[in-house]
Amino acid sequence: MVKTNSTPETPTKNLALDLVRITEAAALASARWLGKGDKEAGDQAAVDAMRLSFNSMDIKGTIIIGEGEKDNAPMLYNGEKVGLGNGIALDVAVDPVEGTNLLAYGRPNAISVIGIAPAGTMYNPGPSFYMRKLVVGKEARDSVDLDATVDDNLNRIAKALGKDVHDLVVFVLDKPRHKDLIQHIRRAGARIQLHTDGDVCGSLMAVDPRSEVDVMMGTGGTPEGVLTACAIRGLGGQIFARLDPQSFVEKEAIQEAGIDIRQILTVETLVKSEDVFFSATGISGGTFLRGVQYTGDGAITHSMVIRAKTGSVRYIEAHHNWDRLMKISSVKYD
Ligand code: FBP
Repeated sequence: MVKTNSTPETPTKNLALDLVRITEAAALASARWLGKGDKEAGDQAAVDAMRLSFNSMDIKGTIIIGEGEKDNAPMLYNGEKVGLGNGIALDVAVDPVEGTNLLAYGRPNAISVIGIAPAGTMYNPGPSFYMRKLVVGKEARDSVDLDATVDDNLNRIAKALGKDVHDLVVFVLDKPRHKDLIQHIRRAGARIQLHTDGDVCGSLMAVDPRSEVDVMMGTGGTPEGVLTACAIRGLGGQIFARLDPQSFVEKEAIQEAGIDIRQILTVETLVKSEDVFFSATGISGGTFLRGVQYTGDGAITHSMVIRAKTGSVRYIEAHHNWDRLMKISSVKYD
């Protein structure tokens, strides 16, 4: 039976359904570069398509998580305004290609991602590049502790999921900095998925009950952590994170910016609003989202679209027709 709310809100627009058109455009443009060994070209194609597509949205967006500082990133740079400028004010997090190397080398799980939230609610990482992350689904969200040992956390997660530790699958980025982490996980008896890149995908898999991944552990990008939090707002689960500078220069820059390096960040501090929208579209074929399939006269894309406030999660398979699309689109897909 459908229960009615005594003080219902008027349903507002689900902006995630606009966002998906943008991540689809970025995926369609960049997937042409699959396996071609040129990560800059693949990323540029996605950036161009994403930027043009933002012009269809009635929002006053400011990029908080973008392609970097203005001097190095001509487009979608941090602070850039996106959208038509006549709607609500929003913070915007973009990663036109999350996993540029995955795309360049034709490996699984390159995705195009956007998260948006009310202006002033997204964590601004400033000069921080790296954070240590522990991402779990809703069953284990109250059981783990970023400062507990790997063994301890894995046992707590297993208990929360009603599994044996040996059943668990941990997603870890295959980086030299994770040598000890990998050893600890193996010693605890859990299984591991090692991926060269793509911890947003790894985190989404950790909170997605359809995936065999139970937890994502390790150090990855700080911007990616904010994007992950946007998705977890809707999917449920938790990210525990702490800035983890990988060089002296990075550490000094964070301290100079007055950012608390010891603070434990969570979904609630990384995005301080429930009114969050998120979209991800697969670029290379993957275990999480299927990649772009060109069909000759068009293409098929697969996306995950989230409205956090209502918790609605949609999986959209879109069939695009070049002839009709090219008549109205300013984005070039070939
Ligand atoms: P890019 O798409 O910017 O290449 O990021 C891919 C990625 O693997 C992220 O998923 C991850 O958070 C970060 O890079 C890790 O950084 P690094 O490769 O420097 O360890």
